[in-house]
Amino acid sequence: MKHYVVTGGAGFIGSNLIRTLLQLNAGIKITCIDNFDTFYPAEIKQLNIRDFKTNPNFQFLELDISTTSPEKLSGYIVEPVDAIIHIAAKAGVRPSTLNPMAYQQVNVVGTQNLLDFAQKKNINQFVFASSSSVYGVNDHYPWKEDEQLMPISPYASTKQAGEMLGHVYHKLYGIRFIALRFFTVYGPAQRPDLAIHKFIKAIVAGDPITMYGDGSTSRDYTFVDDIVQGIIAATDYKETGYEIINLGNNYSISLNDLIKAIEDITGKKAIIQQMPEQAGDVRKTFADISKAKRLLHYNPKMQLREGLQKFYDWFLENKSILSNI
Ligand SMILES: NC(=O)c1ccc[n+]([C@@H]2O[C@H](COP(=O)([O-])OP(=O)(O)OC[C@H]3O[C@@H](n4cnc5c(N)ncnc54)[C@H](O)[C@@H]3O)[C@@H](O)[C@H]2O)c1
Repeated sequence: MKHYVVTGGAGFIGSNLIRTLLQLNAGIKITCIDNFDTFYPAEIKQLNIRDFKTNPNFQFLELDISTTSPEKLSGYIVEPVDAIIHIAAKAGVRPSTLNPMAYQQVNVVGTQNLLDFAQKKNINQFVFASSSSVYGVNDHYPWKEDEQLMPISPYASTKQAGEMLGHVYHKLYGIRFIALRFFTVYGPAQRPDLAIHKFIKAIVAGDPITMYGDGSTSRDYTFVDDIVQGIIAATDYKETGYEIINLGNNYSISLNDLIKAIEDITGKKAIIQQMPEQAGDVRKTFADISKAKRLLHYNPKMQLREGLQKFYDWFLENKSILSNI
């Protein structure tokens, strides 16, 4: 039986990954580490893990990765581990400008703790959730992995640091390290601070939405199932020892078009309050995914409208919980 340690498994992407892994293969055991970070309510994270938390192949450790030493972690996880899929982080660009030290602590110190744990426990496969935000204000679109990185938020700089730490541990200890740069992920269980979730919640309630800028900023939206396929392929990848790979959709959609699509799906008109663009936010993200196709056979399939509909269905199904918190 394979044994994976997944950090951040009660969050949006992590819970979708664990559900898929457990459904796909009865021969996979998951140890999930999450501390129910207060960035958004624990009730939502409990909802995320509700359908698999009693699965016998699933074990949950409520631990903080930034304060749990590798030695302590070895005490909790005694069985051999085939791979670490490190997804836990303080996420969010704008909040990182308000509390940069907390982002350093979790995203950099936490990653270092897990790499030390991997080294001490002879775990040779490490998959890291990085972010498109590391490209920052680089305007050579679509972004390829070897583009110059020009981050403009504390969050983005912590992700770049994580990629570099991985290089160090690969060179020093031979750990295979695969950093995946996710591009704006959406789908069921999306975080409540992200635009699609925020907009749908407000539009359904008849509340105004805040649009930063004139709506011409754009994002390469990537459906969570496509991201999950990429993470699983990276966990199985054995060809080389250190890689950085974009996981996007290769299609950049403007905020105006996103809002129009949401209006169509909800059948309601958005009440838009326009505000200036926010410090730390980049104007456009756009992924070149040829490397992911080549190395991971990554092939994103979801079209925006269908993916938005899937989020909307999830939102309506859980509306009583989501609207009250
Ligand atoms: N969602 C996106 O669009 C997106 C884009 C690029 C990169 N990413 C990265 O993907 C990963 C997952 O993002 P998400 O949207 O699922 O976020 P999320 O906040 O839903 O999930 C992160 C999880 O990590 C946990 N966590 C936070 N601090 C922790 C700590 N100190 N110890 C243990 N667990 C801790 C949280 O409780 C949460 O459950 C993050 O690393 C994020 O930076 C996400």
